[in-house]
Amino acid sequence: MDRHREGNIMSDTRRIALVTGASRGIGRAIALGLAQRGFDLALNDIAAQASALADTAAEARAHGAGVQELLADVSDRDAVRRMLGDALAEHGAIHALVNNAGILRAASVETCPEDYWDSVMDVNAKGTFLVVQAVLPIMKAQGYGRICNISSIGGKHGAPEQAHYSASKAAVMGFTRVLAQEVGPFGITANCVCPGIILTDMGRVNLDDMAVRKAWQDKTAAARIGDPQDVVGPVAFFCSDDSAFVTGQSLNVDGGIVLS
Ligand SMILES: NC(=O)c1ccc[n+]([C@@H]2O[C@H](COP(=O)([O-])OP(=O)(O)OC[C@H]3O[C@@H](n4cnc5c(N)ncnc54)[C@H](O)[C@@H]3O)[C@@H](O)[C@H]2O)c1
Repeated sequence: MDRHREGNIMSDTRRIALVTGASRGIGRAIALGLAQRGFDLALNDIAAQASALADTAAEARAHGAGVQELLADVSDRDAVRRMLGDALAEHGAIHALVNNAGILRAASVETCPEDYWDSVMDVNAKGTFLVVQAVLPIMKAQGYGRICNISSIGGKHGAPEQAHYSASKAAVMGFTRVLAQEVGPFGITANCVCPGIILTDMGRVNLDDMAVRKAWQDKTAAARIGDPQDVVGPVAFFCSDDSAFVTGQSLNVDGGIVLS
């Protein structure tokens, strides 16, 4: 077995995953899904979500996971550095990172305020970059890492009033393709999961209007919109050794809206 292959497969020690934006929606489902699969967790969200994050953490602990709650804005470089320091101090390792934190603020290109563009780019694109940059020294020292960035089919196709969101999610995919090339020799993989239309607080922007919901449903091969639980298995795959030779990919998890 050569060095890289050894480095890309973990021994059977307990694994640690950091999940951002974990208090609700898709991030919460991912946190609980990883807890059920035997991960210990460092769970992040913004301070305003502290109480919801504590609920997620309590449920993950009920699945047997060791859980740390980390309040930080992923678009704040210093806060991200502190968060990674705290996570490493608590767990001694970070094997998997799921960059899930994201925001959507709908507006047409013509009317989009500059601060919509800036905030969406800051959280979705820069936030992903900052957390990855802070985790890389840890994963490189381990000779092992799994990075799963939550992009969106919006970054491949998109919908009206979401051009800035689409741009931020396309940025995450481009970032991940190059990241995969840089970190591959260190036993680290980097992939994207691209959810479709998922019923969460964010998803309601698309789904509160029942006619719009039906139109999205009709676009899926599965003839339904998604639930946060639908995203968990693919993310867990990218956080596992089953995906050791899969990197730089962007996997649609959308019930068959974008076909490739
Ligand atoms: N719901 C969908 O239909 C859908 C589709 C495609 C992609 N996504 C992506 O999936 C991810 C999760 O979305 P969701 O639908 O669960 O949304 P959500 O709004 O329910 O949850 C997002 C979470 O991220 C947190 N967050 C926001 N800004 C943050 C920051 N600066 N720092 C740390 N945490 C922050 C929020 O507090 C919240 O807990 C996002 O990246 C989103 O873009 C969602």
